Amino acid sequence: MAIDLSRISLRPLKLTDVDDFMLWAGDDQVTRFLRWKTFTSKEEALTFINDVCIPHLRWRRSICIDDRSIGFVSIFPGSGDDRCRADIGYGIATKYWGQGITTKAVKIALSQVFKDLPNLARLQSFVAVENLASQRVLEKAGLLKEGMLRKYTYLKGNLEDLFVYSFLATGSFPVVDP
Ligand SMILES: CC(C)(COP(=O)(O)OP(=O)(O)OC[C@H]1O[C@@H](n2cnc3c(N)ncnc32)[C@H](O)[C@@H]1OP(=O)(O)O)[C@@H](O)C(=O)NCCC(=O)NCCS
Repeated sequence: MAIDLSRISLRPLKLTDVDDFMLWAGDDQVTRFLRWKTFTSKEEALTFINDVCIPHLRWRRSICIDDRSIGFVSIFPGSGDDRCRADIGYGIATKYWGQGITTKAVKIALSQVFKDLPNLARLQSFVAVENLASQRVLEKAGLLKEGMLRKYTYLKGNLEDLFVYSFLATGSFPVVDP
C-alpha cells in the first residue's frame, strides 16, 4: 500500500536515531552512489551524529516517517566566492524506495534552504549517469538538467560521468503537499 506522504517530515538527526540511522547508513545499496562509506558499527554512527550532524556545520536533515529516521537530505554550502551555491545529496532506506518519499523530502528542503541560507542563489546536484532513480527525483522536484560532466570523479573507485542539475533561488518552487 502506498505511504501517505503527509507522514514524511525533515528534522535534524538526534543521538536516539542511531538504530534507525544504521538501517539506511549501514546499507551498501544506499551508499553505492554516495561519497561516504557504509557505516559498519553503532559506535561509528554515534560519533558521526554527535560530532558532525548535531553541530550543524552543514544543512543536514533526517528524512522521517512518523518522526522515525529513514534517510537524509544534506546540503553543502560553498564558501567565499562560491557562497552563491550549494550541493544537495540524499538517500533513504531501500524498503521505502519508489514511493515518492525522497521527492517530497527534496521539495521540502527546497522550500526551506533558500530561507535558511540567504546567500544561496543556486542549488546543484551531481548524479551518476546510471543512477536513474536519483535523476527522476531531481526532475520531479523541479531541478533542471544542465548537462553531463565526462569522467568527472571517482565514485567507489569507478571513474564516472555525472549529470549536473540545478535549481535557482529565482525558480518556481514546487508545491509541497501536506
Ligand atoms: C535515489 C533515491 C534517493 C530515490 O528515492 P525514492 O524515495 O525511491 O524516490 P522517489 O520514489 O521519490 O522517486 C523515484 C523515481 O525514480 C524512478 N526509478 C526508480 N528506479 C528507476 C530505474 N531503475 N530506472 C528508471 N526510473 C527509476 C521511480 O519510478 C520514481 O519515478 P516515478 O515517480 O516517475 O515513477 C533512492 O533510490 C536511494 O536512496 N538511492 C541510494 C542513494 C542515492 O543514490 N542517492 C542519490 C545520490 S546522487
